[in-house]
Order: sequence, then C-alpha cells, then structure tokens
Amino acid sequence: MTSTLERLKTNVENALVAAFGEEMAGTDPLLVPASNPKFGDYQSNVAMSLAKPLKQKPRDIAGKIVENLDVSDFCEAPAIAGPGFINFTLKTEYLESQLATIAGDERLGVEPVEHPQRVVVDFSSPNIAKEMHVGHLRSTIIGDSIARILEFRGHDVLRLNHVGDWGTQFGMLITYLREAFPQALTTADALDLGDLVGFYKKAKKRFDEDEEFREISRQQVVKLQAGDAEAIRAWELLCEQSRREFQKIYDWLDIQLKERGESFYNSYLPQVIEELDKAGLLVEDQGAKCVFLEGFTNKEGQPQPLIVQKSNGGYNYATTDLAALRYRIEKDKGDRIIYVTDMGQATHFAQVFQVATRAGWIPENIEVVHVPFGLVLGEGGKKLKTREGETVRLRDLLHEAVDRARADLETRLKEEGRSETEEFIDRVSQGVGISAVKYADLSQNRTSSYVFSYDKMLSLQGNTAPYLLYAYVRIQGISRQGNIDFQNLGENRQIQLQEETELVLAKHLLSLNEVLQTVERDLLPNRLCEYLYQLSKKFNQFYENCPVLQAEEPMRTSRLMLCDLTATTLKLGLSLLGIKVLERM
Ligand code: ARG
Repeated sequence: MTSTLERLKTNVENALVAAFGEEMAGTDPLLVPASNPKFGDYQSNVAMSLAKPLKQKPRDIAGKIVENLDVSDFCEAPAIAGPGFINFTLKTEYLESQLATIAGDERLGVEPVEHPQRVVVDFSSPNIAKEMHVGHLRSTIIGDSIARILEFRGHDVLRLNHVGDWGTQFGMLITYLREAFPQALTTADALDLGDLVGFYKKAKKRFDEDEEFREISRQQVVKLQAGDAEAIRAWELLCEQSRREFQKIYDWLDIQLKERGESFYNSYLPQVIEELDKAGLLVEDQGAKCVFLEGFTNKEGQPQPLIVQKSNGGYNYATTDLAALRYRIEKDKGDRIIYVTDMGQATHFAQVFQVATRAGWIPENIEVVHVPFGLVLGEGGKKLKTREGETVRLRDLLHEAVDRARADLETRLKEEGRSETEEFIDRVSQGVGISAVKYADLSQNRTSSYVFSYDKMLSLQGNTAPYLLYAYVRIQGISRQGNIDFQNLGENRQIQLQEETELVLAKHLLSLNEVLQTVERDLLPNRLCEYLYQLSKKFNQFYENCPVLQAEEPMRTSRLMLCDLTATTLKLGLSLLGIKVLERM
C-alpha cells in the first residue's frame, strides 16, 4: 500500500514539473502533516522555498502548482493559505477505503522495505563479574525495541551482546579467588553473581593497595591471554556464573541476543595493529602504539592519541571495538552497524569510527552509528542509587516494579469488588510491572536523562504502559460484553466515518506506516510510544462520543471495526516495543 504521504509527494512533484519545467524534477515538495488540523491533513511549504529561485510571489507559485495538480481521487480541492501554504484534506471515502485495506492485513498496511539491509545491533553488553546496572537496562530495552522495529520493517538483524568478558579484571579476580575461595575456580556453580560482585570489589581493593598482589594479577592476565589451561578454565567458570545471571534478566524481559563478547575478538587484535600500520596511521609514543586523532585535542591543544596497544603489549577497549567493527563489516556483512550505549561513550565511538574511516575500513555505503542515551536519575534528580548509595541492581528494580504493580492491582480489585485467581494476579502484575519499566524508558527521547519513578510509570493516567494496556483491555471488554467475534464481523462489513472523533481516529490509524519509517531512520522509539499514546487517547475520545454496541447498523459494525483496528494497532505497536498486551487487567 503506497502511503498517502508518498502519493501526495509524487503528485506535487509532477505538478511542479508541469508548472515550471523539467528542471523542477526531484525538488522536495516539502510535505508535512498539517501544523493545525483546522487547515487539513497535510501541507506543502514548497512555494515559499521557490520564491527566490523562481523570482515569483509564493502565493502565485502555489496557485500555479494547484492548477497543475490533480489529487481529486483522494483529496478535497487543495486550498492556498497564508503566504503560500498548500493545504490538503483527505476525502472521507478515501480514508474509509484505506482503513478497509489495512483491516484485512496482518501487517496493517506496513509493507516490508524493498531493499532489506543486514543490520547489526550491539546492545545490552554488560560486564562479566559485575552486576548489570540501569545503564545496561536502558541499552537492553532500547536496543531490543530498535531491533524489533527494524526486523518488522523486513531487515535482517543480528543482535549482538558485546559483553565485557576480557581484560585485566580477570587477572585480579582469579588471583583473589585463588586465595579466598579457590573452589570458584574449579567447580561450576560454586558462586552466584552476588558473591562474585562482592569478590570483585574486594579484589579491586587489594589490587589498588597491594603491590605484590598487583604483580601476580598481571602475570595472571598474561597467562590468560596466552591461553594457559588453568587460567582459561577459571575464566570460563567466572563467565558462566555471570552469564546464567544475565540470562535470567533476559528471559524476564523477553530479550533475544547472541553473545559475542570482547574475548571473541582476541585473535583479531594483532591484525588491527598491522592494518593500522599499513594504512600509515600507527605512531609509537613512549612505547605505546597509537593513532593521533583529528579534532580531539588535550588540554595543551595537542592532538590526542588513541592508544591501541599499551607499552606492555596489552590492548584496549578501543582496539577490541576496532576489531569488532572490521569483523561486522567483513564477516557479518553489516550494511548498518548500530551501537546502543550511554552518552558517556560518545567520544569513544567517535574516535573508533574516525580511526576506522581513516584506515579505509568503512565502505561508503555502510552506515556506522552510535545510538546514545542519557542517565537514569533517582527522584532527587541525581544518578539512581540505593538508599545506601550503591548501584541499583536490575533484579531488585524489576522485582520492585512487579511488587508495586501487584499492590496496585490488589487495591483496585478490592475497590471494584472483583475476585480473581492467584494466577491472574501473578500474570497481570508481571505484565504490568515489566511493561511499565520498559515503556517509561522508551517513551522518553533517549538522548535525555529521565527520572525513574515507580508511581509515575505505574499510573493508569498519562503516557504510561498501564494507560495503553488499558485501552486495549477496554476494547477486549467491548467484545466480551457484546459477544462480538472481531474476526467475524460479517460479509458486508464496511467502515463509515461520520463523527469528528471517528475521522480523527481513522487518520491516526492510517499513519502507523509513516511513524515506523521515521523510527527506522532516526532510531528514536519514543516516536512510536507517542503514536500509541495518541492512538489510545483518540480511541478513548471516540469511545466516549460514539455509541458502539448501542449504535444502529451499519454504524455498529463500522465502529466495531474501528475498535478492532485500534486494538490490533496497539498490539502490534506495543509488540515492537517488546511489550505484550493483556486481555484483561
Ligand atoms: N561493556 C560496555 C559497558 O558496560 C558496553 C559495550 C558496548 N559495545 C561496544 N561495542 N563497545 O559499558
């Protein structure tokens, strides 16, 4: 189904050529949704932008465009307003027929892209032997949603978990455990992640204070990197323990990811150095191998180096990312490579991308993007911490969301005099709690920081998961109440739009395609959230204004179709955010 916007674009482009000649071909008709619904549905601002090159008044230009425009099969006669806006209002019959088309389509009129890309999404990526924190939660939720949306658009997505599973911390951890808890290095399941994190902190303290400990730790790293069997075995056990714990969170959040940690690129690191050398970028500076960066300077205004191999031969985080980038281009055949991390890593990625570009590793048609996000703040506006000042553990945070959702639900059930099974209460509080956390994160423009508030995210009012889930539940309630099978609304079902609230809802339903295209481009899932929020609001306005079950035929069936389309759109849209709807709540 060609989107209405595409259709209008083609028409205005053709009119431009007809009115002003071939040289107009390819001019962007500057079509946008109308700034005010009073003026219609779309507007073209192109006449103003052509005033100078054409040396004519914008209103005259608009007039000539309109004279050469025929959109009568889907629009009312275009109107010229103000300095030269061209306003378009869609015909009601057109909206009705478009709705009928998407109503019969499980993709709701969103066609897969013509040229699918191979997209690599690097997200979540926690560190072994450390707890996953809220930053990883953001990365996990945002990355998953981006992956889902791109998959739905028809791209071939590789979801990669670039876990921090290599490096000096293992030397120190192994050294410490050998002393404090040797079983952990030889037996599986001897530790849980909580213990491991505790040991990690103690090991770090020893490392910072004790020179001898430091030395042994360093030797341990060298052993590990050289593939010493005992060190490798210990390292594997530590990774296994963390991995099990991470997996619980992924299962809980319904996240699919392929683990390919930093260690995977270990054998590719020397090649990075060789290739940088061949490209003439490698410089030796005080024993370290580095690349001098363009546009990054230190305090003295000197070009800043990116160290790719330390003087002791060890490699850095950036070196691994360079190797990973090469691998994702060469082996994974990525066309678009996306990294979802906190904003604090923006410089890191800018530097890695610069070096890779200068080395000639990124072909022109390949897009490499960092998708940054802001901090999660506590209610006081500072970085989210526990009362004791510790990092909040993800597990605790999710538990609390579910517990609070359960408490809210139980209060509501009591107030409404409803009694439900334990199974129902479990399912709904899990669903609502987890959805609330995900949605609270996704509904913010990811580049801003946001305040984490259980009360806000669990509220049934406002731009929250419960509000959207409730709109869906309300529609399912209509079907139960009227004994309606939405799949079977009769042979001659037809949509008829009479009331203003129906028209508004209809137009919104038809714009899903456009929204998903923007998200695909900008990688901002909050736009989809906003779309779904507006959809729920518009549905509620329609439902308050228009009788549905009480309406006479054919309006009854028409309105039931609008209800069902709203529900399927909500279900699909929420699924792209990683949120499952509930039939009742
Ligand atoms: N492990 C890193 C961290 O916790 C994130 C890794 C992101 N991905 C990457 N390719 N660098 O901060």
